[in-house]
Amino acid sequence: MKLAHAPATDYAVAFTPEEHSMTEWVADDQVRGKAAPVAPPQVRPATADDVPAIVAVVNENARLGHLLPRSAENIRASIDSWIVAEMDGRVVGIGSLLEMSPTLVEVRSLAVLPSYRRYGVGANIVLGLVQRARERGIPTVFALTRAVSFFTRLGFVISARESFPEKVWKDCVICPLQHRCDETAVVMEL
Ligand SMILES: CC(C)(COP(=O)(O)OP(=O)(O)OC[C@H]1O[C@@H](n2cnc3c(N)ncnc32)[C@H](O)[C@@H]1OP(=O)(O)O)[C@@H](O)C(=O)NCCC(=O)NCCS
Repeated sequence: MKLAHAPATDYAVAFTPEEHSMTEWVADDQVRGKAAPVAPPQVRPATADDVPAIVAVVNENARLGHLLPRSAENIRASIDSWIVAEMDGRVVGIGSLLEMSPTLVEVRSLAVLPSYRRYGVGANIVLGLVQRARERGIPTVFALTRAVSFFTRLGFVISARESFPEKVWKDCVICPLQHRCDETAVVMEL
């Protein structure tokens, strides 16, 4: 994986996934039914103006069972913890960083619109969130995910869920899937 393109903001860490062959790129393009984006994704901190776009990405992914639905009010109240990725002049990806403790943050609500996947948007969002954690001096970033290889390719390593008691106590205890959870904990030490 290769970092490319000079950062446009503190959180812009655009890269081009070199794993994508031209064949895959064309195939994606055919599915999308329009030209592939020519510019790399631009990752930036979210603002209040982004709330409707964030809600749209959350809802699209919630409908597919990838994310829990979040209300506009909930997102607006936590807007400082969100970053967004833009392509083709629109918000196509989102992610947030939830502070579990002064030394631990969780990557949360990571999602990219289906037609913009596999262009490096998700990786740029995660790297932007990791950079934000680093700037805040928070040493450990983790996620609970089904997209394990996506995270390990970015430098996360698989860990035991029990390593994150804050998460287990705050969220897992009220989750109906707590005894048949299909998510894996991945962690990056900064
Ligand atoms: C996971 C997700 C954010 C990745 O976004 P993206 O913009 O496509 O990511 P990138 O382009 O940077 O990387 C794409 C790579 O991630 C891989 N990937 C995507 N989802 C994956 C999954 N569930 N498991 C394993 N790998 C996955 C892709 O296969 C692709 O690799 P490839 O090119 O070798 O096939 C996106 O697929 C998504 O929104 N999924 C639904 C929501 C979700 O599962 N969020 C994660 C919750 S923690």
